[in-house]
Amino acid sequence: MNSRTAPDTAVRTVTATGGGTLTQGDAVDFLRTLPDATARLVVTSPWFTGPFTASSTDPTSPGFAKWLDPFVAEIARVLRPDGSLVLELGCCWAKDAPVRTVQNFSAITGLLAGGDWHLLQEFYWYNPGFLDSDVEWRDRRRERFDDCVSTWFWLARTPDVPVDVKAVRGFQNHLTRTYGNFLVLGDSAADDHGPADASGDPSGERERAHAERFPVALPEYFIRLLTREGELVVDPFAGTGATALAAETTGRAWACNDFSDEATGIAERRIDALRR
Ligand SMILES: C[S@@+](CC[C@H](N)C(=O)[O-])C[C@H]1O[C@@H](n2cnc3c(N)ncnc32)[C@H](O)[C@@H]1O
Repeated sequence: MNSRTAPDTAVRTVTATGGGTLTQGDAVDFLRTLPDATARLVVTSPWFTGPFTASSTDPTSPGFAKWLDPFVAEIARVLRPDGSLVLELGCCWAKDAPVRTVQNFSAITGLLAGGDWHLLQEFYWYNPGFLDSDVEWRDRRRERFDDCVSTWFWLARTPDVPVDVKAVRGFQNHLTRTYGNFLVLGDSAADDHGPADASGDPSGERERAHAERFPVALPEYFIRLLTREGELVVDPFAGTGATALAAETTGRAWACNDFSDEATGIAERRIDALRR
C-alpha cells in the first residue's frame, strides 16, 4: 500500500459546550490530553485503510494494523477497565483490481491475538450512502455488486461491560427485530439537520455530500447501549461531529477530535447549531 501524508497539527480547541469539547489535532496527541481510565465508551470510525491506498498485492495490509496500534494503545489507557471500544472498520475495494482488501479483519485479529481485547460482538450497518460511491468495478465495468454494509466491532478488555439493551429498544424495526446486530438506522445523506454550509448553501448540500460521515443515530445507538448520563464518550476520528451531537443530546460528557480543517469546520457548525 502507498503512503498518504498526514497534516502536522498541534491539538487546539475548536468549540466547547457544557458537555464537551471539539478539538483539532492528531488523534494520538488528542488522546494524550485525556486522563487515564475516564472514558466509558470510545466510538469512532478511522480511515478504513489508514494512510494507505488499498492494493490487490497487499490485501491484508499489515501496515494498517501498525498505523492503528498507537491509537488503540492510547484508547486502552483512556478507557475505564470495563469500558467499550466500538470501531467502524469496513473491508475495501483494491484500486488496481476487482478484489477486496481485509485490513480491518487483520487489525482486529491482531488485537485479539495480543490477548488484551475481547470481541464482544460485531454489528453490520446498512449504509445506503455507500451505494452512491463511484467504484470502478461496479459502476464502470459492472463486474461487482453494490457495497452497502460496514462492520462495527464492539471490543472491550473484559467480557463483563455494563450494557443496557432496553435502552436501544427504540432502534428496532421490522428488519432488526429484537436486539439484532444488523443496524438499519437511516441514510447518512438524509441525516443532516445542521445549518448552511460554508458556501452559504442553505440546503447544506455540500455538507451532506461529505461521503464518509455516519448518521447521528449510529453513535447514539452505542451511547445508549453502553453508557449512562454524565459518562464520558470519546471519538478521536470524529469527522463531522456525529458522536459529539449524539453525546450532547443524550446528556453524556464528550471529547471529540479530528485533524481535518474541513471536517472540524462542519462539526463546529453542527455543534454550535445545537445551542441556537
Ligand atoms: C471515516 S472519517 C470519520 C467520519 C465521521 N464518523 C463522520 O461521521 O463525519 C475518518 C476521519 O479520521 C480523520 N483522521 C484520519 N487520521 C487522523 C489522525 N491521525 N488524527 C486525527 N484525525 C484523523 C479524517 O480527517 C476523517 O475525518
